[in-house]
Amino acid sequence: MRFQRSLLSLALAACALPVWAADTGAPKLPQKASYKVGFAQAENNNPWRIAETKSMQDIAQSCGWQLVVTDAGGSAAKQVADVDSMIAQKVDLIVLPPREEKPLIPAVMKAKKAGIPVILVDRNVDQKVAKAGRDYVTFIGSDFVDQGRRAAEWLVKATNGKATIIELEGTTGSSPANDRKKGFDQVIAKNPGMKIVASQSGDFARDKGRQVAQSLLQAHPNTTAIYAHNDEMAVGAITALEAAGKKPGKDVLVVSIDGTKDALTAIAAGKMGATVQSSPFFGPIACKTAQRYAKGEAIEPWVKVEDKFYDASNAQASMADGY
Ligand code: AHR
Repeated sequence: MRFQRSLLSLALAACALPVWAADTGAPKLPQKASYKVGFAQAENNNPWRIAETKSMQDIAQSCGWQLVVTDAGGSAAKQVADVDSMIAQKVDLIVLPPREEKPLIPAVMKAKKAGIPVILVDRNVDQKVAKAGRDYVTFIGSDFVDQGRRAAEWLVKATNGKATIIELEGTTGSSPANDRKKGFDQVIAKNPGMKIVASQSGDFARDKGRQVAQSLLQAHPNTTAIYAHNDEMAVGAITALEAAGKKPGKDVLVVSIDGTKDALTAIAAGKMGATVQSSPFFGPIACKTAQRYAKGEAIEPWVKVEDKFYDASNAQASMADGY
């Protein structure tokens, strides 16, 4: 009797929950012949970003998307405002590469509140706060931790486990910068002969990478390797090395991530050691995922993108992969 009474009071308590407390998960996407889709790009300042934006534009027509593209110009605040304006325009779906992990969470939540599903591509948001399936549909992207690990494993092999390393980090607070550092540093920590003597952000940009590499090389003239979180900064670092009278690829090994045409060319020329691919071509997979979601299929929280690896053995032959 007492047990039945406590069950009843539990049921009553549940009924008393305010309506907003019942979280029904990420908003649904109805099945339609065409959709108004917002793509809120973080910036278009490098070949990777340009290829990503183009991939979305290229798929739009065949996917039945009327695409609204914005460019936040490297500002997380502007990217939040761009998502706001997409919500005001009542788009059906938002595809978002969040520039940084935390600042874009309010934008994801606001879209959810407005009943607009969000698919994250390329970069993720802070997993302690927002969750796939509950707040947004899914994250489509690479395993950035693994990319960092693969770059480090190549470097350990190429240097026989002995190197003095400068690390050029990506945009502070972004998921690729956090995770590529984590993966690389994990492997390096297991190799006592490998030492990271300096690690600083070059904001994923070529000239910033060049400037940071230049000043870190002055502070650490005995550097024997540079790990850059993306190819643009690696190419900037090569320029800095040459300006300092050092031979990239010989005096100092350079390894990075992306697989741009410039990086493949530098590898083929012997100036760069290797790059882990990070595909920017999200258009087709974002389209397919949205179609599956509209059909009512359960979408996995992380739609993982597999990445290739380029070094002297395949860079020239893989030039067509570059962008
Ligand atoms: O989020 C992916 C990274 O962002 C790419 O490695 C980089 O080139 C871009 O700016």
